[in-house]
Amino acid sequence: MKIELHENKVYFNNGTEKKEIHPFWLRERVDGEEFVDKGTQQRLFDPTSLSNDIIINKASIHEEFLEVNFNDGISSKLNLNKIALEFSKEDTVIKSIEKTKWDSGLSNIKNFEYQDNFYESKEMHDLLVSFYRFGFVVIKNIPTTKNYIVEFANSIGSVRRTNFGEYFDVKSKPDPNDLAYTSLALAPHTDNPYRNPVPCIQLLHCIESKVSGGYSTLVDGYTVTEDLKKSYPDYYKILTEVKVRFKFIDKEVILESLCPLIELDEHKNFKQVRFSPRLDFVPILDKEELDLYYQARKKLSEMYNSDKYRIEFKLAPKDLMMMDNHRLLHGRTVYDANEGERFLQGCYIDYDSTEGKLRHLKRKFNL
Ligand SMILES: [Fe+2]
Repeated sequence: MKIELHENKVYFNNGTEKKEIHPFWLRERVDGEEFVDKGTQQRLFDPTSLSNDIIINKASIHEEFLEVNFNDGISSKLNLNKIALEFSKEDTVIKSIEKTKWDSGLSNIKNFEYQDNFYESKEMHDLLVSFYRFGFVVIKNIPTTKNYIVEFANSIGSVRRTNFGEYFDVKSKPDPNDLAYTSLALAPHTDNPYRNPVPCIQLLHCIESKVSGGYSTLVDGYTVTEDLKKSYPDYYKILTEVKVRFKFIDKEVILESLCPLIELDEHKNFKQVRFSPRLDFVPILDKEELDLYYQARKKLSEMYNSDKYRIEFKLAPKDLMMMDNHRLLHGRTVYDANEGERFLQGCYIDYDSTEGKLRHLKRKFNL
């Protein structure tokens, strides 16, 4: 990408095409103390109050700066590298971390270790990169006192509180209102598909584990749905198109969301999976369409539940797992509550927490 000048017009040349940069676009980006707040980089002026008839009286390039005089009397030096960065349409921090597809063969994944000054450390940066690559990460040695999970969440960003509270205790109890609070196995699922937006990231912190079963299970929804696309394109298509009603009802609230099981982004790439087959209600469609939908959902469920894609591991006390609830499915194996206590605490955070922290640490360590 090169910035070029011709007769007081500014062009960008990406090697294949050369286009003029709108003078107003440059005028909005004037730099320097009188125009931009140093710390926040927020504008000290409102560009909507400027005349739309901005033109450039004079422009020149000196080393890495574009010097521009505009016809409203304002002059500024703009950093060429900063301008070039804006021509990348994608997010340059998060989207540049490539997702690694994985299945049951996943091995040698790095666990992280809680330490002093953890949240401001290079280790935290590496942890977040690993999280975006694999969709989950395990951190050892996290304090287990005083619902520390909430402090952990708030040290990365902010807890996403739901109507279940700031955090929840996962242990078997009498008369449970959800299968999570029994000792039964839990098939792979995503949490809270009935919320809008769905909580992005789940944290699960192991406080006590005195049982021989109760392994945590994870499945990469990204890998599975990409495989489905390759092997069963018709199934994939209908599952990305049909919006299903997910519902949660209790005395105080009725939560509902109408969304596909596989949601794609504006480029038709993977965005999010939702899977919780006890809560989904497909709308009435033509019989042939429903035939295809039910076959597709069954196949997807078989894949999510197959040994081929699932990893299993045991969380030990002080282990905290952070997983992407838009990408991964999670579950657990059965355990015997008579063997002793199994106690986990969970809470949610959203992507603004992890993204904000990662961008900050990148800036801090100049990465
Ligand atoms: Fe869950």
